[in-house]
Amino acid sequence: MESLLSIRNLKKSFVLESSFFKTVFLKKKQQDQADSTRILHAVNDISFEILKGEMLALVGESGSGKSTIAQMIMRLLDLSSGSILYRDKAIERLSRKQLFSYRKKMQMIFQNPFASLSPRMRVQEIMHEPLSIHYPKMNFTERQNKTKEMLNICAMGEDSLSRFPHELSGGQQQRIAIARALISNCEFLVADEPVSALDVSVQAQILNILSELKKNKGLTCLFITHDLSITKHMADRIAVIYLGSLCEIGKTSDVFRKPLHPYTKALLSAVPEFGKPLAQRIELKGDIPTPVGLDLNSCSFASRCPYVKDRCYAEKPKLQSYGKNVLAACHGLEEKRL
Ligand SMILES: Nc1ncnc2c1ncn2[C@@H]1O[C@H](COP(=O)(O)OP(=O)(O)O)[C@@H](O)[C@H]1O
Ligand SMILES: [Mg+2]
Repeated sequence: MESLLSIRNLKKSFVLESSFFKTVFLKKKQQDQADSTRILHAVNDISFEILKGEMLALVGESGSGKSTIAQMIMRLLDLSSGSILYRDKAIERLSRKQLFSYRKKMQMIFQNPFASLSPRMRVQEIMHEPLSIHYPKMNFTERQNKTKEMLNICAMGEDSLSRFPHELSGGQQQRIAIARALISNCEFLVADEPVSALDVSVQAQILNILSELKKNKGLTCLFITHDLSITKHMADRIAVIYLGSLCEIGKTSDVFRKPLHPYTKALLSAVPEFGKPLAQRIELKGDIPTPVGLDLNSCSFASRCPYVKDRCYAEKPKLQSYGKNVLAACHGLEEKRL
């Protein structure tokens, strides 16, 4: 299958502002020393591809860099280095005109649908707006027909047309956000934790809509979540990231059957359905470390890995292939210790 989006050696770091205290009270040399540790490494050399019509789940705990990757794909954030290719074209070098048509093809939905819908617009205006931007020649009836078609796909009745977002439930708001994202025939949807803020009973509805759109409309989707369990029946492949680095990427069935990376194992053993008896569980102690001043030459998971060895601190493991569809980055796997 053809690759639609290709992410190559992507890096993003944020330089944190010096504090007032430091600027006023520290000497220049001390300031410089302190500054070298004030870089936040959010995304560190990540590469993966998304094939046309595929749903790739990007999984990792909060703070691992998922939203930062999403924002770079949407061109809402600049890259620090690396490249993002869409249909073999580097998106960071698109002209204004090319960027306009790129933005039409790429749409994003967010964790909090209410924040992403304009509170002063009724559903009808919310749905018509992208059409008037991208299809200015469309008349009102055509817009209205397209709107009704999309509402129907997203299991929303036509009575919602005259409602304001605050008159809808969280699940309905998210369905409107999906309908709005897809109304201008987008090719690629980035769904950043689309069900994390919703009740469990409503989550399934939204996940079903996304699965149907993928099946029936060939939508390509990057599905971002911190909850590995919901990816099992939806995603074709899973990419697991930790502290800005890719740990493992593979076919969903393979990852669930035989996770390789210790972090993937820990995530899976935390899911009750798939969890092993308590004695065999890998329990992660403590929180994800800070990415500020992160040592880029060691394994990002070293400080929490139950199998850590000296080499893990001295050298960052590279992604290696383990079987047909699986890549993982771990010294323990390379040395067949795990
Ligand atoms: N604009 C920003 N300025 C500084 N730090 C940021 C900014 N955006 C994100 N970060 C930091 O980058 C890291 C990754 O964040 P994010 O991509 O939001 O993670 P996730 O979506 O996986 O929870 C976090 O440590 C976060 O605090
Ligand atoms: Mg996020």
